[in-house]
Amino acid sequence: MTDQTASIIAYWDAVASVFDDEPDHGLRVDHTRAAWARLLRSCMPTDPVDVLDIGCGTGSMSALLAEAGHRVTGVDLAPRMVEQACAKFSGAGLEGRFLVGDAMMPPTGEQRFGAVLSRHLLWTLPDPEAALREWVSRLSPGGRLVLVEGRWREAGQSGVPYVTGTESLPWNGGITASELAAAVRTLVSGLRVEPLSDSPDLWGGPVTDERYVLVADV
Ligand SMILES: C[S@@+](CC[C@H](N)C(=O)[O-])C[C@H]1O[C@@H](n2cnc3c(N)ncnc32)[C@H](O)[C@@H]1O
Repeated sequence: MTDQTASIIAYWDAVASVFDDEPDHGLRVDHTRAAWARLLRSCMPTDPVDVLDIGCGTGSMSALLAEAGHRVTGVDLAPRMVEQACAKFSGAGLEGRFLVGDAMMPPTGEQRFGAVLSRHLLWTLPDPEAALREWVSRLSPGGRLVLVEGRWREAGQSGVPYVTGTESLPWNGGITASELAAAVRTLVSGLRVEPLSDSPDLWGGPVTDERYVLVADV
């Protein structure tokens, strides 16, 4: 493990217990939770499938997927995040599997998934295009890739340091929808992008930066 990876793990472990305090993380307000449930319903396969939630954090997306009947495996690099996700599931009486592992090579062996979901992870990966190739390879034929992403204008200006050295990560600060679509297009048979910046219910209030979901089928 590189020093940078160890620092990234330490960062997310340190914030895991307060991560859900943000409205779009904890989904504690009914209309925020309902907005994400609606969005996932519109993006995911209609019938229940095995879903891999990569960089699952505290498992809020995973929980909505499990509530919708999907069979969820969550993977996250930070053990404390995985602990939070497990606690969320057992507290809600939900079934799911959570693993500590790297998004660059999710530790799920030969299993293939009907859908791979990732929200707000690509910006912190050392080689996001390699990760996308790996994720697509984990899909079964006809499977679906769902990426909730954005380009955050305030990146690097919030005054809150992330991890030293991560300024040089390829997609630090996020990625625009058109750039992500260009990176994904060659890996899939078709894709669509739905803008999400004008949906304040998702974020706990209005946002001014670019946010979207990219849905691709293989
Ligand atoms: C911004 S949070 C998003 C969490 C969750 N997807 C959500 O939307 O609530 C980023 C998450 O990615 C995880 N992460 C960072 N680098 C990772 C990597 N290389 N592999 C797997 N998870 C990683 C962090 O531990 C953190 O939980």
